[in-house]
Amino acid sequence: MKIQKNKSLKNLNTFGIDAKASSFCEIRSINDLAEALRLQNYPTKFIISGGSNILITKDIDALVLHINIKGKEILKEDDEHVYLKVMAGEVWHDMVLWCLDQNFGGLENLSLIPGNTGTAPIQNIGAYGVELKEVFECCEAMNIEDQSIKSFSKRDCNFGYRDSYFKNEGKGKFIITSVTFKLTKRNHKLNTSYGAIEDELKGKGIKNPTIRDVSEAVVAIRQSKLPDPAELGNSGSFFKNPVLSKSEFELFITKHPQARYYKLNNNEYKVPAAWLIEQCGFKGKRFGDAGVHKNQALVLVNYGNAKGSEIIELAHKIMDKVLDTFGIKISPEVNLIK
Ligand code: EPU
Repeated sequence: MKIQKNKSLKNLNTFGIDAKASSFCEIRSINDLAEALRLQNYPTKFIISGGSNILITKDIDALVLHINIKGKEILKEDDEHVYLKVMAGEVWHDMVLWCLDQNFGGLENLSLIPGNTGTAPIQNIGAYGVELKEVFECCEAMNIEDQSIKSFSKRDCNFGYRDSYFKNEGKGKFIITSVTFKLTKRNHKLNTSYGAIEDELKGKGIKNPTIRDVSEAVVAIRQSKLPDPAELGNSGSFFKNPVLSKSEFELFITKHPQARYYKLNNNEYKVPAAWLIEQCGFKGKRFGDAGVHKNQALVLVNYGNAKGSEIIELAHKIMDKVLDTFGIKISPEVNLIK
């Protein structure tokens, strides 16, 4: 295990922020991880994986551990299902494509999400009507304190909208080392109810879609709306969609009857933050090298050399204006490294 000094993290975060790690180490196995965590000379450790959901606002004075543990293993299977264990450092979309090649269903709506497999449970990634929790069987994670490995069931993970145990009580205590998915081998349960998927399939004249058709539709939709981090630095949705109580929602919709919304249950309504931000006039606006994407107002972008602090400044400007205009508090979905 080699420790590098003063390592630029520009290529390791999808926002493309050029911050430095005082020390840096590539983690390729569970043993590497345990060994690195035990290094006494480096009291502060910082974990980076796919780097697709963080905004780094300053240099990191710590030993940065880059999780790059690879591997896939079929643990068991029957006629209907396969239990696939995927190591944390596998790139999410490559893993999804591999599953399509094997005709394993369940991940197709989650195609083209940036990041690595190990971080997917932390925020219960979701897109186009499906959340990770629907295909999640369990995960393993290393306890940072004593380097023991613990298995977490779906229940242990306490998944919510862009939320889990690992963002709450478990925060800073564990590093996920693998995720096991329960996928279908036949009788795939397709979820094409999301309007944009239906439109995409209809446009191509596909009546009985396969899991690959759904994946291709999702890829086409994402490519048309979301910037490719390889071309324009970003972290996908920067904000979460706010959830309003019934009374808050009624007040809101009376004032803004044209707004889109999604009823979660009898007491909660989700409102698209992108709509609120667009109404405030931010869509496509640029402030120096920080900006709001032209096709999706929920996505903040780095046009080149924006500092993390400039992106945060823009985020605050947006949050304040949305609060002022609609009385609704929106909050970041991305992890802010301050
Ligand atoms: N909308 C606007 N202006 C915009 C963009 C969207 O008014 O600039 C409106 C649309 O008209 C639509 C609504 O907002 O009525 C929802 O838009 P969209 O379907 O694009 O989804 P979203 O709520 O903005 C969420 C996720 C995305 C995910 C999509 C699709 C969050 C925070 N974001 O975005 O996730 O891909 O749904 O399921 O929940 C991510 O987490 O990084 C991410 C991209």
